[in-house]
Amino acid sequence: MLIKSIYLENFRNYEKQKIELSNNINVFYGNNAQGKTNILESLYFCALGRSFRTYKENELIKFGAENSKIKVEYLKNNRDNEIEINLNNNSKKIIKLNKIKVNKNSELLGNLNLVLFSPDDIIILKQAPALRRKFLDILISQLKPNYIHLLSEYNKVLEQRNAYLKTKNTEAIDIWDEQLASFAEKIFEYRKNYIEKLKEKMEQIHPKLTNEKEIINIIYNSNFKNKLEFLNNLKRSLQNDLFKGYTHYGIHRDDFEITINNKSLNIYGSQGQHRTAILSLKIAEMKIIEEEILENPILLLDDVTSELDLERVNSIFNIVKDYQVFITCTDINSILKFDCLTKNIKLYNIEGGTIKS
Ligand SMILES: Nc1ncnc2c1ncn2[C@@H]1O[C@H](COP(=O)(O)OP(=O)(O)OP(=O)(O)O)[C@@H](O)[C@H]1O
Ligand SMILES: [Mg+2]
Repeated sequence: MLIKSIYLENFRNYEKQKIELSNNINVFYGNNAQGKTNILESLYFCALGRSFRTYKENELIKFGAENSKIKVEYLKNNRDNEIEINLNNNSKKIIKLNKIKVNKNSELLGNLNLVLFSPDDIIILKQAPALRRKFLDILISQLKPNYIHLLSEYNKVLEQRNAYLKTKNTEAIDIWDEQLASFAEKIFEYRKNYIEKLKEKMEQIHPKLTNEKEIINIIYNSNFKNKLEFLNNLKRSLQNDLFKGYTHYGIHRDDFEITINNKSLNIYGSQGQHRTAILSLKIAEMKIIEEEILENPILLLDDVTSELDLERVNSIFNIVKDYQVFITCTDINSILKFDCLTKNIKLYNIEGGTIKS
């Protein structure tokens, strides 16, 4: 997969900007707050229909403007494609895929496949389970369109069950339990399967990033085991659910855990070990996407040189050097010193929302 060009109009600090891209390494460099990450954000927005920085789409529209437009032209399966998103201060966004309007965000997913490496990734492993579920959900939804549908159905049933609990009535609870269990079972299977794939990849990648010193493992923690047990557990926690007014038990509580040399990363891991583990997780994500779509995903590397030590930066650059990559940095020399990147490299200097290549 290759991105050929990006066109931005009133997006963040860009007024009108067209960027023609190199098939290999694209480096956006410049001082802080000039618009480097905004470029990556525009690509991410076209791939997933949402930003990695905000849920408020109005924030993406340039200050003082009313509309914003992003257009990305890309090559997939040797065919030309384009995604165009229009944002307006007063209405919902309009997404067009190859000039045809797409009605749901879920229809956009899976067209432009990318993996983002960001300094903020580390919170995926450090903070609440919701972020780990989000990571897993985004990975699976990019590859399995049905998954996002299952998730939204599960959440609808969960909301309805919670509303029903608040009526303190239990006569019809079985109807909600049965539906919840059916969707939970399917979602569980997907998650189990993808955790298994992540594990297989991370086991190969992680030793290479740590001079063979660390063995990594990823463990799926779900309170779903099978449908029958799930239904029994829902019954068992019914009194508690009624008391609190929400459903305690279910795959909306799922989590995964990472261990390094059989010890919990979250409890015992150092900052550097967290960073390396997240790198393994992301590279595993990239390899899984590649295997499933049979094309290279696009890689976005935001500020990696400022967050990782030289050895790890070198490892990651050696892994990504044959992909189409978008790298941001403040110091161009922090990139140019890596010989593996200097063959097919295009440099863009960014200053106050203007790009010079
Ligand atoms: N809606 C908007 N309209 C205009 N400017 C905006 C908007 N949203 C953000 N900006 C500006 O964009 C700039 C930040 O851009 P970005 O995050 O891409 O910076 P960066 O070059 O990646 O910086 P750093 O090196 O600090 O990460 C800020 O100056 C901010 O004020
Ligand atoms: Mg930035």
